[in-house]
Amino acid sequence: MKYKAPRGTRDLLPGEAEKWHFVESRFKELCNIYGFTEIRTPIFEETALFVRSMGEETDVVKKEMYIFKDQGGRELALRPEGTAGVVRAFIEHGIHNEAQPVKLFYYGPMFRYDRPQAGRQRQFYQMGIEIFGTKDPAVDVEVIKFSQDFFQGLGFSNLSLQINSTGCSECREDYLEQLSVFADARVSSLCGDCKERSRLNPLRLLDCKEIGCREEMKDAPRITDHLCSSCRDHFDKVLFLLDSLEIIYNVDHQLVRGLDYYTNTAFEFHSSTLGAQNSLGGGGRYDNLVEVCGGASTPGVGMAVGVERIVMAMEKEALFSEEMPAAGIFIAVGEQNDLPLRREALLLLNYLRGKGIVCDTDYLGRSLKAQMKFANRKRFRYVVILGGEDPSEGTLKVRDMLKGDQTELLRSEAIELLLKNCGK
Ligand code: HAM
Repeated sequence: MKYKAPRGTRDLLPGEAEKWHFVESRFKELCNIYGFTEIRTPIFEETALFVRSMGEETDVVKKEMYIFKDQGGRELALRPEGTAGVVRAFIEHGIHNEAQPVKLFYYGPMFRYDRPQAGRQRQFYQMGIEIFGTKDPAVDVEVIKFSQDFFQGLGFSNLSLQINSTGCSECREDYLEQLSVFADARVSSLCGDCKERSRLNPLRLLDCKEIGCREEMKDAPRITDHLCSSCRDHFDKVLFLLDSLEIIYNVDHQLVRGLDYYTNTAFEFHSSTLGAQNSLGGGGRYDNLVEVCGGASTPGVGMAVGVERIVMAMEKEALFSEEMPAAGIFIAVGEQNDLPLRREALLLLNYLRGKGIVCDTDYLGRSLKAQMKFANRKRFRYVVILGGEDPSEGTLKVRDMLKGDQTELLRSEAIELLLKNCGK
C-alpha cells in the first residue's frame, strides 16, 4: 500500500460513523435543552492567538502545535483546542454586546502533535460549550452538570469527577513562589522541562507527565490553601451547589489542566476503563481570557469532551446497542431485464423517498434471491417485491423482514402499511 493515513490520524469508516452520529446527536440535543447555540470557527488561526491564550510555557504551545506559514507569509496554526477561536470570534463580532450570558457550543477537529497512543491522536474531535458574561459559581456548576447529564445520557455510570480551584493572579502570587521553592529543593530529581517550569511558570510543574516528577511533586503546596477570600468563596459555593445537586466529586489538588487561561474552577471527568488517556472531558473558568485576547473584560467558563475517547470507552463498556434496528424499505425486482418493472421500481422508490421514508433498490442486476440476502444484511425492515413468481396486476408483495412473513396486498393497502410502519 503506497499511501497511509498520516500517523496520529484515522479514518472513520461506515459502521463507526453511526456511533459518532449517536454521540454527536446526544450532545446537540442537550445543547438545545440547555440553551446553547452553535458557533463554527476556522480550523486554523493566527499562531499568536494560541500562544497568547494558552500560554507560552504550556506543553501544547511549546511542543504540540502544527504551525505553518501560508503563501502570504502569515504565521498560522491548526487549532489545538476550541476555546481560543471562540473567544477570538466573540471579540471580533462584538458578541459581548448581545444579551449576556452568551452560551455557545462547537464541534470539530483539533490538532496536537503528541506521541500517538490509545486515546491520543494528532487529529481528534472535540465537542465543547462556553458561557460568557457571568462570574456566578452556579454557571460553573451548570457546565459540570451539563457534562454529567451528557455522559449519563450515553450510559456511563462510573466516571469520576475531579475538581480543583486554580485561584486568580492575586492568590497565585504567593502560592507560585512557594511552589517554586518546593521544586527547587528537588531540582536534581526533576526533568529538564520542570527545571525550566520552576523558573518560568511554576504552575505547569503540576502538569508534568513524567512519573518521576509527579512523584516528587505529589506533596507540593496546595493552591486551595492559598486562595484569596473571593476565590475561596467562589470555590466553596461551587462545591456547595455540586453537593446540592448530589454530584459526587473528588477535590484533586494537583489538577491545573495544562493551559494557562484557567482561573478558579478546573475540572475533568475520568473513565476507569481507559488507560493512561483517561480524561473524557474537562474544562473550567477563564475570567481573564477575553481581556488577554484583546476584548473587554468578560468572564467565561466552559468545557470540551473528546469524541474518540468517548466512543472508545463506550465500546469497552458495551454501551452501544449491538445491532442497529431494522429500518426502511428495499424494493426488489423479479426480472432485472424487464424495463417497465425497473421503471415501476424507480417510481415507487422516489414516491416513498418523497414521503421521507428510508428506501433503496438494486443497481447491480442481482437475482431476486441475492437482493433478499442484501436487504437482510443491510437490515431493511420491509422488502417490496415487484414481479417475480406469479405477479398479479395491481398488487404488491411485501415481505416483513423481522417476522419473516410475506403478504400480497392491493397496491394502495401495501403503501398504506409501509407509510404507517416506516413513516416518521
Ligand atoms: P483539554 O482537556 O485539553 O481541554 O481537551 C478536552 C478533551 O479533548 C480531553 O478531555 C480529551 O477527551 C480530548 N483530547 C485532548 N487531547 C486529545 C488527543 N491528543 N487525542 C484525543 N483526544 C484528546 C481543552 O481543550 C479546553 N479547550 C476545554 C475547555 C473549554 N475549557 C474551557 N472551555
